[in-house]
Amino acid sequence: MARPLVASIDLDAILYNYQFAKKLQPSCKAFAVVKSNAYGHGAVAVSRHLDEQVDAFAVATIEEAIELREADVKSPIMLLEGVFEQSEWALCEQYGFWAAIENEQQLSWLIECQVNIEKVFVKLDSGMHRLGVDKTTVNDFVVRLRQSGLVDQVLLMTHFSCADDLSDMTTMEQLAYFESARRDIGEIDASVANSAAIMKWSVPEGGWIRPGIMLYGISPFAGVPGVQLGLKPAMTLTSKIISVRHLQKGDQVGYGRTYQAGEAHQLATVAVGYGDGYPRVTENGAPLKVSGQSAHLAGRVSMDMITVRLTPSSDLVMEAGQEVVLWGGDVPVEEVADYAGTIGYEVVTRMTSRPHYHYFSASESA
Ligand SMILES: Cc1ncc(COP(=O)(O)O)c(C=O)c1O
Repeated sequence: MARPLVASIDLDAILYNYQFAKKLQPSCKAFAVVKSNAYGHGAVAVSRHLDEQVDAFAVATIEEAIELREADVKSPIMLLEGVFEQSEWALCEQYGFWAAIENEQQLSWLIECQVNIEKVFVKLDSGMHRLGVDKTTVNDFVVRLRQSGLVDQVLLMTHFSCADDLSDMTTMEQLAYFESARRDIGEIDASVANSAAIMKWSVPEGGWIRPGIMLYGISPFAGVPGVQLGLKPAMTLTSKIISVRHLQKGDQVGYGRTYQAGEAHQLATVAVGYGDGYPRVTENGAPLKVSGQSAHLAGRVSMDMITVRLTPSSDLVMEAGQEVVLWGGDVPVEEVADYAGTIGYEVVTRMTSRPHYHYFSASESA
């Protein structure tokens, strides 16, 4: 491996965060949400490590689910958005997948196919208005599924639109709507909670929680990094300085010359860029560490490189080969995301295949 950019993934941290979610909602079973390549952490490696430690996995597409099965992942796998084509129902039966049903077409396809599915989660639109059916239809879905004899267990699910905002009472309204639909149906298990709800809202006893971002040690809440919530960040992105120069006051740096030295200082070039997943829109000042010392982005992010300077109080002399932490450890990815005008979810999910991925745990390493 010549280029020194490495995404180190702490698999034990992900298991710890999963168990942390379960401790917060001890009456519930929990999906480990590993869609979108386990939020950029590597779905196969993460799921293999968690397999048989989790109650089930959840993904967004059947391709993601099949990838895991073919990698010998044995735990149940649920399709959070259900099927996109009728033919997927046969694959669900073949591979033993569980699925959400959020519209009439998915339901009638299942009944036409006459396949057997262990668990189906009927999705209630409790106010997000993205997927699901409303209260007037949901009972009919549950009854038709139960009467079909094709499904071992029918459950009721919903998704929150604002659980990451503790001052927004929409979550309470969605919960009230959900509970009223549930009462109309009678006995039925529930699945409502994403990471924010698991950590900060009171969710129905029993049923299934669906932690995603918190598994990776990243916070769903603005301004509060995952470590402050008791989570263990799983990804550390590190690289090295490949070139160093001395800037004079007034020198301008990089594409578009978006950084100008206010005084003479060293500037280092580091092997990471937007071709790796470091967002191009990240603004000057984004935090990082050079040999353990505070530093920040100075100049526009290129495809393969960034330029950085130390904070003025540092007395380090920068040299090629010194290690740079882009995020992870004491550089929260949530703070880098702030400088890129986005959230930790997007930064890690947009990681590309170009960095070297190093997986480690106390019991194995790769
Ligand atoms: C239906 C559903 N459940 C759970 C999750 C996990 O959410 P989070 O990553 O916020 O925990 C998602 C993620 O988008 C989702 O779409």
